[in-house]
Amino acid sequence: MPENNSPLLEFKDVCLQFGEKWALRNVSLTLNPGETRIILGAAGSGKTMLLKAVIGLIPVDSGEICLFGETVTSMQEQQLYGLRSRAGFLFQEGGLFDSLTIGENVEYPLLNRQAEDGKDKISEEDAEKRVREALRFVELEQTFHQFPSEVSGGMRRRVGIARAIVTEPPLVLYDSPTAGLDPITANTIMALIAKERDTKNSASLIVTHRYQDGEIMANFRYGEGEELHPVQDGHESKEWEERTKFIVMKDGEIVFLGTRDELEASEDNYVRRFVRKET
Ligand SMILES: Nc1ncnc2c1ncn2[C@@H]1O[C@H](COP(=O)(O)OP(=O)(O)O)[C@@H](O)[C@H]1O
Ligand SMILES: [Mg+2]
Repeated sequence: MPENNSPLLEFKDVCLQFGEKWALRNVSLTLNPGETRIILGAAGSGKTMLLKAVIGLIPVDSGEICLFGETVTSMQEQQLYGLRSRAGFLFQEGGLFDSLTIGENVEYPLLNRQAEDGKDKISEEDAEKRVREALRFVELEQTFHQFPSEVSGGMRRRVGIARAIVTEPPLVLYDSPTAGLDPITANTIMALIAKERDTKNSASLIVTHRYQDGEIMANFRYGEGEELHPVQDGHESKEWEERTKFIVMKDGEIVFLGTRDELEASEDNYVRRFVRKET
């Protein structure tokens, strides 16, 4: 668990190079419970590497990364397994196992987690209950016995979300959750991600190419009545603005970090490429 004042996640001057190419260049950021960072940037700008570095899936060259109060950058592979099982991850390509049913796919992190932390084995009954809850959360409980190939691309993405959140992680990493989906399905996915944030107060890092995805996170909240609704102007919107920030990456570097208003006011040509112009 994080110590009293330490953030959930902190990057201090993190660098990673492949030859001459910077994948991460002096990256510093902090993230607290309930906060969201929307990560924008050209292909190859380091977005995926940033997410992978969080859970030590890629070792960095220098700098320090602390997650849940532990120092990822000084951990051995063995210790990293345990830490990883405490964060949720939706991979860029979905990453479901084709040979497992949807229920088994969602159960996977639960089993993995208990194998790592050596706690008492979760009963089959409890595991199934948790899996069904996670599937219900993404409104796909009926697919429990089906295989990934039997459902649509949008449904597979929702299964991926169920798998990412089944352990109730305090931090969820989403790599391009809406890529390749039609706009309506993409909005459904973002609504689920906002619902996860607002019902669990979890922190999230979201890589996306769709500016709209960030707008949904910044301008809507999942409230009473179980619906996504616009954040009210005034106090609530101020607070929300601070909790949802945008990051723009370029050649491994964070060239912008700020609120939606700050992003829209940016005059930097590179940054502007990622902001949808109002028509
Ligand atoms: N295993 C690797 N070997 C060499 N270069 C890599 C490797 N993985 C990533 N890179 C480079 O690191 C940079 C950042 O990659 P990535 O984070 O995947 O970009 P994106 O922003 O598209 O997600 C890219 O230039 C990529 O080519
Ligand atoms: Mg990527």
